[in-house]
Amino acid sequence: MNESILITGANGGLGKEAARQLALKDGTKKIILFCRNQAKAEAAKKDLEEKTGRKIFEIIIGDVSDEHSVKKAIEKIKEPIDAILLNAGGIVGKTAGNITPSGMNEIAATNVLGHIILVEELIKRDQLKKAVLYVSSEAVRGVKQMGMKPALMKTSSVEEFAAVLDGSYFGKKFDNVQAYGYVKYAATMWTLAMARKYPALKFVAVSPGNTDGTMAPDNFSPVMKFMLKYIMMPIVLPLLGMVNKIEDGTKRLVDGISDDRFKSGIFYASKEGKMTGEVVDQGTFFVDLKNNAFQDNADEAIHRFIN
Ligand SMILES: NC(=O)c1ccc[n+]([C@@H]2O[C@H](COP(=O)([O-])OP(=O)(O)OC[C@H]3O[C@@H](n4cnc5c(N)ncnc54)[C@H](OP(=O)(O)O)[C@@H]3O)[C@@H](O)[C@H]2O)c1
Repeated sequence: MNESILITGANGGLGKEAARQLALKDGTKKIILFCRNQAKAEAAKKDLEEKTGRKIFEIIIGDVSDEHSVKKAIEKIKEPIDAILLNAGGIVGKTAGNITPSGMNEIAATNVLGHIILVEELIKRDQLKKAVLYVSSEAVRGVKQMGMKPALMKTSSVEEFAAVLDGSYFGKKFDNVQAYGYVKYAATMWTLAMARKYPALKFVAVSPGNTDGTMAPDNFSPVMKFMLKYIMMPIVLPLLGMVNKIEDGTKRLVDGISDDRFKSGIFYASKEGKMTGEVVDQGTFFVDLKNNAFQDNADEAIHRFIN
């Protein structure tokens, strides 16, 4: 049972729905909404209080793509936290390839940087008690139907992971939709490495599957956004059984952090070729995930960008 849970990116989409579902679970006493925008966070808090009838939500402001912002936010966390959902992220949009002060580009900083700082700093302060869930994606092993190739790397060396994180891996033609799977792969590998480093804590990566009701389509190019919002998500993909309702996609995350059947050191997502339904250990068919040396390389590469 997790009494206190911090969720990044909790003002909308899966993060906010996770806050709602977790608030309705027996034993939940506090949920910290870690958001970058005060007004959006307050609106989400009010709505969550109305929907759940519970006044257990607190706000901490922080931008997960910015090391200083995350470190400032950590100072506001005064009591130990049982569990963290590392949820903020996505394909980011037009600015995804821009380099941030950390040296990572924006898509990597958003999906990776702040989450690693947050977790490692809380562990250092002995303020993290039970579990960490990284919200990953089927994009890691590729989603043919959405034009996403598997994040298969030649060597998964430290150099290669570092090149993914600063974008140089992708050459001059940076495509955030392709880069997305690779940055999720890097953070997923860090999660699996952490499971070995900290056996007393649970570290798990879970994908919600392709889920409706989120703001994710807004970050695609205008044509793709139109296709996703008005054709693919509401019409085509449901006919193919390829869209999770937001409640179901989020339930994967809630189960992942709360249910002992989800084991530390595993990345759970849909079965091969699927985007919905049962979740399975992705390492059974994407075998690079099980390579401890590759996991450690991702971990080392990420730390090249952290002071
Ligand atoms: N939806 C899917 O089908 C799907 C599938 C697989 C994986 N995922 C993953 O699930 C997670 C949630 O996605 P979603 O679909 O719920 O997306 P969403 O509706 O776009 O919500 C993303 C949330 O993250 C926050 N966020 C973004 N950048 C941030 C930053 N730098 N600092 C702090 N917060 C930030 C956003 O806040 P603002 O409102 O301030 O932008 C928002 O609250 C992501 O990691 C995504 O990659 C989603």
